[in-house]
Parts: sequence; C-alpha cells; structure tokens
Amino acid sequence: MKEKKIVVASTNEGKIREFREMFEPLGYTVYSLKDFPDMEDIEETGTTFAENAVIKAKAVTDKYGIRAVSDDSGLEVEAFGNQPGVNSARWLGHETSYTYKNQVILDRMKGETDRRCRYVCAIALTDPDKEPVVFVDTAECLIADEPAGTNGFGYDPIMYFEPLHKTMAEMTKDEKNAISHRGKAVRRLQEWINENE
Ligand code: IMP
Repeated sequence: MKEKKIVVASTNEGKIREFREMFEPLGYTVYSLKDFPDMEDIEETGTTFAENAVIKAKAVTDKYGIRAVSDDSGLEVEAFGNQPGVNSARWLGHETSYTYKNQVILDRMKGETDRRCRYVCAIALTDPDKEPVVFVDTAECLIADEPAGTNGFGYDPIMYFEPLHKTMAEMTKDEKNAISHRGKAVRRLQEWINENE
C-alpha cells in the first residue's frame, strides 16, 4: 500500500501535535515545516482566514507535491470593525505580551455596549492537482469586563463565553475544545475525511 503523507504547514508545536493526533490514527506519516527547513517563509497576504489558510497549505503542496494542512485563526471584535482579524498575532507587535494586548482591548471597550466578538478558525487541506478544501468555524463570545482565568493562551482571559458563564481561560481543555473555533473546524475536517477517504 502506498504510504500516506501529510505536512502540517506550521512550525507551531501545539498545532503540529493537534494535527498529528488526528492524522496518525488514519495511517498518515505526519511531517511539519520543521522537516522542511528549505521551505521559504510563507507570506500571509490574504484578507480572510480562509485565504491565509489556503496560501500556507498550498505553498507546501506546490513545492513538495504532498498533501498539506494548515490553519489560520484570530479574533474579531464587532466594535472595532472586526479587527484585529487576520492581524491578531501581529496586532500591537508580535512580541508584545497578551497581558498588554488584552488590557488595550479592555480600555478601548470602556463604555462600549456592543461587546460581541468571536474567534475564527479556518483549516485548509491541499492536494496536488486538486482544488483546496477549507473549513471555517467560529466561537461567538463577549469581551469580558476584566481578564479572568489562567488556562489557554492569547486573548482567552478576555473572551467570555456566555453559555458556560466563563472566559475561555477559565475552561478546561476539553470544555474549550468542545466549543472553540478550532475544535469545531477540526471536527468539520474530520467529518470530511471520513466521508471522502
Ligand atoms: P495564527 O497562528 O497566525 O493563526 O495566529 C492566531 C492568533 O490568533 C494567535 O496568535 C492568537 O493571538 C489568536 N488566537 C487564535 N486562536 C486563539 C485561541 O484559541 N486562544 C487565544 N488566542 C487565539
């Protein structure tokens, strides 16, 4: 039987682990960009999460002729015209702490009644000579009044998820995975694979 290979188009350990846990049980040998150090930096020039996810996966498939998977995610705040959006990681500076970034959001939201916001995650799967497939999902939240919780990462302490009366940083891993943008998009990909392979 032909060996099944997939490259996770990322060097982020967390993302690599998550996709490895998904694809290895399906019989894939899972690689990441760490195994392809000659891959040039992929510029995320898209204006949507879906575009950026496809750009990343397609660059790997085009160069090496192998199936690739990637994700792109971020935070949209309604009152900020859906910013920081695709710029979530680099917003206010790549190296700036999230304690500071979160405080800036809370300060700018003072007196704002519309506190709606969402995490968005797009996952792209690319194969040689095939159209990419993309799965997008969201976690609808409110910007909290103050940071709460120490789990998770990034914007999690200010992302209040009303149905559970908790911020994302107050959830256990399993609780977050059940309702998160990434958990939901990963499950869409899983369903697609179950139906199509
Ligand atoms: P990416 O790695 O280029 O997709 O950047 C995603 C960015 O969005 C991260 O650096 C975080 O700022 C933010 N983000 C996405 N998902 C989450 C999450 O689940 N928790 C906290 N921050 C997130």
